[in-house]
Amino acid sequence: MTHKTSESAPDDAPPRIEALLETAWASLRDGVADARHGWHQAAIASIGTDGGPDARTVVVRSADQVARTVGFHTDRRSGKIDRFRADSRVGLLFYDRALRIQLRASGRATVHEDDSLADAAWARSSLSSRRCYLAPMAPSSPIDAFSPNLPSDLLHRVPDEAASEAGRDNFALILCHLDVMEWLHLRHDGHVRARFSWDASGACSATWLAP
Ligand SMILES: Cc1cc2nc3c(=O)[nH]c(=O)nc-3n(C[C@H](O)[C@H](O)[C@H](O)COP(=O)(O)O)c2cc1C
Repeated sequence: MTHKTSESAPDDAPPRIEALLETAWASLRDGVADARHGWHQAAIASIGTDGGPDARTVVVRSADQVARTVGFHTDRRSGKIDRFRADSRVGLLFYDRALRIQLRASGRATVHEDDSLADAAWARSSLSSRRCYLAPMAPSSPIDAFSPNLPSDLLHRVPDEAASEAGRDNFALILCHLDVMEWLHLRHDGHVRARFSWDASGACSATWLAP
């Protein structure tokens, strides 16, 4: 699949700020749909236990322009769950090497474990993804000796649907509600950078930034 940006058509035409936001959300959706897209993964930063930043890579599972959310899945035993419950502030960072586009975003994260949103995300998840949630130990548990933390019979295969259901108890959906999005496209004819932010009423402000 070839991914395009639409700042837009001819390379020498000035970019249009109105088009950028649409393009950003289209790229986020492309990233969800295509594992080869640079935005299929993102760095997600929470506030660590020491009050400092703490980032990790996740697979981006949803992008909803109307709700202004980006979602990812995690093990509900993982440390980030408690971190987001203690302080919901979240930072997101995407970079697509092929398109040379970075997206920085920030907002608030909500944890969904047993609600209908989590049920729907679980229903859409693949058996290979579900295997992760069958891990016997909580992620980040210190261990005395190496262990891949998978049931031994699933080391080389994915669970069948029935067996995968045991993972539902460990599964969580995290939705990041974005309040700020900042686009940076590296272009030979001049980089393009813009910032979009939303106030509490949902009103959007857009401004160009010096690259
Ligand atoms: C390519 C890649 C994709 C990953 N995807 C996820 C993911 O979707 N969800 C997740 O919880 N962890 C994912 N991880 C693992 C996290 O980066 C992290 O190591 C783990 O979640 C523990 O983080 P925590 O201690 O902050 O909870 C991924 C790691 C890599 C390298």
